Amino acid sequence: MSGLKIAISGKGGVGKSTIAAAWCRILAQRGITTLAVDADPDANLATALGMAPEKIRTLRPLSSESSLIQERTGAKPGLTGQLYSLNPQVSDIAQQYAVGFKGVQLLVLGAVKRGGGGCACPESTFLRALVRYLVLKNDEMLVLDMEAGVEHLGRGTASGVDALVIVTEPGSRSLQTAGHIMELASDIGLGKKLFFILNKVRDHGHEISLLMRQFPDASVLGTIPWDERFIAGDEAGRSVLDDDGCRDLVRYFESALDNLQTIVLKRNI
Ligand SMILES: Nc1ncnc2c1ncn2[C@@H]1O[C@H](COP(=O)(O)OP(=O)(O)OP(=O)(O)O)[C@@H](O)[C@H]1O
Ligand SMILES: [Mg+2]
Repeated sequence: MSGLKIAISGKGGVGKSTIAAAWCRILAQRGITTLAVDADPDANLATALGMAPEKIRTLRPLSSESSLIQERTGAKPGLTGQLYSLNPQVSDIAQQYAVGFKGVQLLVLGAVKRGGGGCACPESTFLRALVRYLVLKNDEMLVLDMEAGVEHLGRGTASGVDALVIVTEPGSRSLQTAGHIMELASDIGLGKKLFFILNKVRDHGHEISLLMRQFPDASVLGTIPWDERFIAGDEAGRSVLDDDGCRDLVRYFESALDNLQTIVLKRNI
């Protein structure tokens, strides 16, 4: 069976990359080949995975690979008014450009400079085609770390996504963003594949009831407590997966991932 395709979204700073990175590292430890795709223009999944700064400096965001994009689409990034292929060849990109780290393969999409009304340009066409290929044609497990939205996913691609996980934190603002993401997700047919993780929780009962009041049908995969060790790990550029003193925290990520896999497997039977 093909690996699950999981997309993670949520308001800035809620913990998307922390969760995406922890899941990828856990899957790798379980011997499952996993492709981690950093689809946030403000890319920081590599740091969350615990990659060293020297290695991070060698990563090449695909959006800035101008000659590759030109070769595949037939148009030069940054110039307007050109004709280009809407169906570029992308099947070899992950193999060529992903960087391995502790059993995880990481691909960084990078930022696309947008004009006023969104971007229909060679860069975004190339990245969309790549994500579409990775979701629909590639057999590996895929974890997509996104910004607050569903950028890079269209209707066709969404049909192959098994789960869109929305991360929230206590307070009304991340719930407001969650509502917005849910609308965008429904527009592309992901409405029935939405899941929640409540992160940075200090008062479990209260926070869960706030979430359920706003989204009564929410399927909650788990909650993760607020814990200073995440901040310390972030400052040191270290993943909780590399810290024996954080086994208790890793269990929260394992549990949420196991819940997701169980639900999706049942649905797909
Ligand atoms: N449960 C938690 N308790 C305390 N701090 C946390 C927790 N989860 C994540 N953090 C911290 O919150 C900060 C933001 O986390 P992270 O980078 O994963 O969020 P993000 O949603 O990916 O952010 P961005 O939108 O900027 O990409 C980091 O410093 C991280 O260590
Ligand atoms: Mg992030």
